Amino acid sequence: MKIVVSGTGYVGLVTAVCLAEKGNEVVCYDVVKEKIDMLNSGKSPIYEEHLEELMHKNKERITYTDDKVIAYKDADVIFIGVGTPEKKDGSANLEYIYKVADDIAENITKDCLVVIKSTVPIGTNYKVEKYITNKLDGKHKIEIASNPEFLAQGTAVRDTLEAQRIVIGTHSKWAEDTLKSIYSKFDKSVLVSTDINSAEMIKYASNDFLALKISYINEIANLCELVGANIEDVSKGMGLDSRIGNKFLNAGIGYGGSCFPKDTKALHTLANNLYDYELKTVKAAIEVNANQKLKLIRKARKYYETFNGLNVAVLGLAFKPNTDDLREAPSLVNIPIILEDGAHIKAYDPIGEKNYKKIYPTEIEYCNSVEETLKDTDICFIFTEWDFVKNMDINLYSKLMKKPIIIDGRNCYKLEDVKNKNILYESIGRDTINNL
Ligand code: UGA
Repeated sequence: MKIVVSGTGYVGLVTAVCLAEKGNEVVCYDVVKEKIDMLNSGKSPIYEEHLEELMHKNKERITYTDDKVIAYKDADVIFIGVGTPEKKDGSANLEYIYKVADDIAENITKDCLVVIKSTVPIGTNYKVEKYITNKLDGKHKIEIASNPEFLAQGTAVRDTLEAQRIVIGTHSKWAEDTLKSIYSKFDKSVLVSTDINSAEMIKYASNDFLALKISYINEIANLCELVGANIEDVSKGMGLDSRIGNKFLNAGIGYGGSCFPKDTKALHTLANNLYDYELKTVKAAIEVNANQKLKLIRKARKYYETFNGLNVAVLGLAFKPNTDDLREAPSLVNIPIILEDGAHIKAYDPIGEKNYKKIYPTEIEYCNSVEETLKDTDICFIFTEWDFVKNMDINLYSKLMKKPIIIDGRNCYKLEDVKNKNILYESIGRDTINNL
């Protein structure tokens, strides 16, 4: 069976490599020649643990091409894993999906199954099926299937190989059986077979629920600060109830990344625009998140009305640890404000730095260690809970900073561990420690 995966971003590449790891032969196709050249030289264009390792291990089973004729010739199953970014009005931009649809219609040489892995608004699969079928004009037949992706960045390979669920939405037994055979070496007990619209909905409903859970705990954290409670204890106490669960109850400076911000807005916009239905809970999650992202600046303003002339340390730039992805990272909302005030920023994020330099090539001083970053600074912001932040010697703050004011957006330290340090420590949903 010839399997083609169109798009070599997080979803496409990880899917392709993991399908190969489970014994399938896969052709990866991308329009960006530089990405294909990189992949052909054994390098991954994205940072993801174990990915390059598995690319090497399965190199006999994966080929990479930017030639659509070669890619789609004799294809039996085509997975679409291209991006569906956010449009200005909050809806999903499907231009890349339809570009692939055009290529499929123009280049397939036999009947095949087209599987959409990208997150697309409910109803899109059927529309794409109709679109390709019309373009094919009877030359070949295609059928569509929805197989949403649930991998999280940083743990993408594990999330795929040891998937907690594999959702396949089909409208024929043939499509269902074809996908089941592709996933035959995965855990069968987690396979959920549904109709196409339900599969599309499972993806949005899951991401939006998790976003909601985060916004909820962030609001409770804000209230904890006002009433004098500790959000960590509150989360722990709540999470022990198996109906609530202890995951995604970490308060912080809001969710970022390429998924939650876009998927909450897309579902809200879809419900409003197409069905005149207001998803009030999702709307609240979006609003709370936008506000939460500015929380650290508001806290810092208590100590400095302006950051003008200050040396500001920043630990962590990425939207979460173990990724170089900056999309919707809280740091991107805060850093412009600090720069605008006229501060000098020293930042450290060994993985995220490369992409940050594309946005701020000269405006920020990029450092090579925590020590270099903290030296002679007046305040330190923590935007990402990298291990290097959580595991560092907390004494470094008072030893190296001019004024050790730490504004931690990710609750990296236990209050127990900072309460006797010579620092001023602000975190989320917990008491301020001020030993200055
Ligand atoms: C998310 C989902 O977790 C995946 O299941 C889904 O497949 C993916 O989106 C997608 O749609 O492709 P991802 O965006 O990689 O994955 O990252 P998450 O680990 O979910 O984190 C998202 C954001 O929430 C991060 O900014 C993180 O810091 C924040 N977060 C997470 C919290 O603030 N608190 C938490 O308790 C958990």
